[in-house]
Amino acid sequence: MPETTRASIPPGSIAVILPAAGSGQRFGAERNKLFAPLAGKPLWHHSAERLASRSEVGRLIVSVSQADHDHFLQQCDELRLRVPVELCRGGAQRSDSVASALNAIGGDDSIGYVAVHDAARPLVRDNDLTAVFDMAAKIGAAILAAPVAGTVKRARPVTSNETLSGCETVDRRELFIALTPQVFRIDLLRSAYARHRGFPVTDDAQLVERMGHPVVLVPGSADNLKITYPEDLAIAEALLKRHV
Ligand code: CTP
Ligand code: MG
Repeated sequence: MPETTRASIPPGSIAVILPAAGSGQRFGAERNKLFAPLAGKPLWHHSAERLASRSEVGRLIVSVSQADHDHFLQQCDELRLRVPVELCRGGAQRSDSVASALNAIGGDDSIGYVAVHDAARPLVRDNDLTAVFDMAAKIGAAILAAPVAGTVKRARPVTSNETLSGCETVDRRELFIALTPQVFRIDLLRSAYARHRGFPVTDDAQLVERMGHPVVLVPGSADNLKITYPEDLAIAEALLKRHV
């Protein structure tokens, strides 16, 4: 595409929301997994640094729980970013934490887009950020997603034996795992939250899909992993050594 027609996001016009108000139950550490050290710094610093290094980003809002607030504040001092970190109070569900950060953006005219990125995804690649930002500029809503690699089965009852689970094979060509960032025009995400708040969702795109607005899948690298279990940290450490 010639440079003149390539949709792109103006500098400083994205507000990044990093939901960080979970408690890391599955990780099982004493403190929030986001404080766990990865390659010499807290896990969430990697996520914040990767997003804040982009010129399109004008604000960075981190939703944190009341219990973790002071610890996050302390760790903000060790960060040197292009934009200051703003902390806001997260909620019981991830969507509550995102809604709270959306409120914190307020009526800031410089912001045209919101990029929601799990604080627990420290390895997002810069070229994937470029791709998802460009698509959001074009269509208004875009998410990084990785094609499903394995063979996928759907459980089906076995008619002759009620205790066994049978299966059928699902065509994986149309299946993707949703990653983050998920990037939206701010008006679109605000309307989606205003309409569908309370509807149980595991990502933000679902709320925008429910409004009937297309959300474009942008194929992204599968190594943009979310740290969920302790062993994920060792995998992330190894990937970082290979300069992901
Ligand atoms: N998150 C949030 N507010 C919540 C729940 C989750 O901001 N009420 C954030 C987490 O801090 C994390 C991201 O959403 O950065 C993805 O959630 P997940 O990986 O599930 O983290 P936790 O909820 O902390 O972990 P677990 O589900 O194992 O308790
Ligand atoms: Mg969770």
